[in-house]
Amino acid sequence: PRLVVLASGTGSLLEALLAATGDGRLPVDVVGFVADRDCRAVEVAQRAGVPTAVVRPQDQPDRAAWDAALADHLQGLAPDWVVSAGFMRILGEAVLAAFPDRVVNTHPALLPSFPGAHAVRDALAHGVRVSGCTVHLVDAGTDTGPVLAQAAVPVLDDDDEASLHERIKVVERGLLVEVLAGLAVGGVEVVGRRTRWRPARP
Ligand code: GRF
Repeated sequence: PRLVVLASGTGSLLEALLAATGDGRLPVDVVGFVADRDCRAVEVAQRAGVPTAVVRPQDQPDRAAWDAALADHLQGLAPDWVVSAGFMRILGEAVLAAFPDRVVNTHPALLPSFPGAHAVRDALAHGVRVSGCTVHLVDAGTDTGPVLAQAAVPVLDDDDEASLHERIKVVERGLLVEVLAGLAVGGVEVVGRRTRWRPARP
């Protein structure tokens, strides 16, 4: 299967996906990478020889034009799956309509708790003892699509946002690879808000 990855940050999740395709854990081809800004993830993709594009909102007259430009670029890559691996923009209707139930996102909290761009900070501020990460299908909302998989991560007394996020990202990298491998070899059906794996997940 053909995968396109979207990111906006350091690209540690992208690195984990590329490593997994290299060692056989993830039987997919990463056929493209797209960022919304210049970031380390762009360098990671370029170094790995992945066709890379930066589609900046500020280069477009308005949000709808950016959505359309992103959707066009993605369609040109003909992906089976679009993976948001730390992409800090809401994907608009143009992208979601082009890839229905084919866009996957990873979020560093146990949704529906702590959606949005400051999940780790919000979880810490709330004083939770357990947080974690969620891999889900993307719908028109913010971090609201059907859940594919979750993993719990303990919150330590001396955690700050950076230490907790790093601990979550270690787990998140593994969960994302596992989910994408499951989607690559089988698939998932969405029944209401619930997702059922084909074949069943271990
Ligand atoms: C991940 O935790 C992702 O869930 C969140 O931002 C982080 C991206 O990390 N949205 P990186 O850019 O892959 O290092």
